[in-house]
Amino acid sequence: MSKIALITGATAGIGEACAHVFAREGYNLVLTGRRLERLEKLAKHLNDKYNVEVAISSFDVRNREDTISNLEALPEKWKKVTVLVNNAGLSQGLDPIQKGNIDDWETMIDTNIKGLLYVSRVVSNWMIANGKGHIINLGSIAGKEVYANGNVYCATKHAVDALNKGMRIDLLPHGIKVTAIHPGAVETEFSEVRFKGDKERAKKVYEGFEPLAAVDVAETIWFIASRPAHVNINDMLIMPTAQANAGTIFRG
Ligand SMILES: NC(=O)c1ccc[n+]([C@@H]2O[C@H](COP(=O)([O-])OP(=O)(O)OC[C@H]3O[C@@H](n4cnc5c(N)ncnc54)[C@H](OP(=O)(O)O)[C@@H]3O)[C@@H](O)[C@H]2O)c1
Repeated sequence: MSKIALITGATAGIGEACAHVFAREGYNLVLTGRRLERLEKLAKHLNDKYNVEVAISSFDVRNREDTISNLEALPEKWKKVTVLVNNAGLSQGLDPIQKGNIDDWETMIDTNIKGLLYVSRVVSNWMIANGKGHIINLGSIAGKEVYANGNVYCATKHAVDALNKGMRIDLLPHGIKVTAIHPGAVETEFSEVRFKGDKERAKKVYEGFEPLAAVDVAETIWFIASRPAHVNINDMLIMPTAQANAGTIFRG
């Protein structure tokens, strides 16, 4: 198989939208996430619609052993990954530091930093063996700026920003491209997850302005992935037009 994209967190939002866009562009896919039924449904849909091959692998990126063993268990042909979209991630809670829920902190750190590292450790070695590859890390405007009560989520995305730069240096001699894309507000399941299923509160985040849609980010990731071999986009911020920075949204 010539072109394979491995997308983490493909059961919803940006990851799911990336799966659609890369399938449309003829990529075979490895899709991961915890919700197996969603992965199965998406794989069937993409196979029917685009006639691409789709492998699914369901695991929690916080679990080091499961992440490594599930990835390594993929048949050899799937290890020729050309593009890794390190997308699985989340925010939990929005509290001042002194009132923060420590379990929420650990979930964010374990998912956004440690999970991304476990996946990158495995897949970067596959890419080195293949002599090429492109890792695209989902950062955030929260990885460039800090907003009130965003403390730990912002810290995890600042860590992704640092890891993105570090990976690029380390993987340079192997010809592997490394990019971070940092979106502002995107309407996905993100706020529902942040507010633990409180749909009303989640809806309010996007009221009075037009946020990015998951597909806006996915199409931009495709643009990044489809540059010529000698061109790499190191870092990209993508915002809704109505959002100037992390804390300034114009609600008309
Ligand atoms: N939405 C925004 O405003 C925004 C802005 C900037 C950056 N981002 C970043 O973009 C990425 C995607 O977010 P989204 O907006 O698309 O949110 P989403 O709709 O909630 O999707 C998140 C995805 O991550 C997966 N995931 C979460 N925890 C996981 C775990 N422990 N193990 C495996 N998979 C896990 C989820 O799959 P399962 O639940 O099935 O495991 C889901 O597929 C995240 O890294 C997020 O931080 C989002």
